[in-house]
Amino acid sequence: MGAAFLVLFLAYLFGSVPAGVLVARTYGVDLRKVGSGNIGATNVLRALGWGPALVVAFFDVFKGGIAVLVARAFGLSDWMLGGVALMAVLGHNYSVFLRFRGGKGVATSFGTLLFLDPVLALWTFPIGLSVILLTRYVSAGSLTGGVAAFVLSLALGRPLWEVATVFLMALLLFWTHRENLKRLQAGTERRLGEKEGGRA
Ligand code: G3P
Repeated sequence: MGAAFLVLFLAYLFGSVPAGVLVARTYGVDLRKVGSGNIGATNVLRALGWGPALVVAFFDVFKGGIAVLVARAFGLSDWMLGGVALMAVLGHNYSVFLRFRGGKGVATSFGTLLFLDPVLALWTFPIGLSVILLTRYVSAGSLTGGVAAFVLSLALGRPLWEVATVFLMALLLFWTHRENLKRLQAGTERRLGEKEGGRA
């Protein structure tokens, strides 16, 4: 039990590492004052371009994946694996290093899913990506990906612990994207790479 709590705590701590903020700082940019103010790769792309954005996307995916890998190495149960995945995402969204503020959890959720259930992750990815490419709204693709992962987990008959984990992740995505949803409705959401949003 002690090991389980240690791994949950480590997952939260590792998820908390704000790669976007740190990378932007090396360029002298405060990411929270640019574009959407979010700390994820989408906003790094607006602020700094593709190179730094890909570095941040990679690290945010990696920290989710490594949390699940460590949990597996400790032999935790499936339900605990789901808990560890959620803790990594909560770390990203409510980082101890950012006074419990943070990002939206898309890349980190995907990273956990890649190692919890690679087949589900690899089905979900092209669905989210297609929506991004068609609409050029990363938020719309992220939310579609969250819904797709949940629907696929049911359709593929995944165990309850996994369906519950994916459901909670999707709920978290909708919560962290609530401002994006308002902007999408108002027609003022920024498209991929845009610093300013348009008008409906
Ligand atoms: O990665 C988060 C994405 O879905 C939206 O980011 O910066 O447009 O709010 P942003």
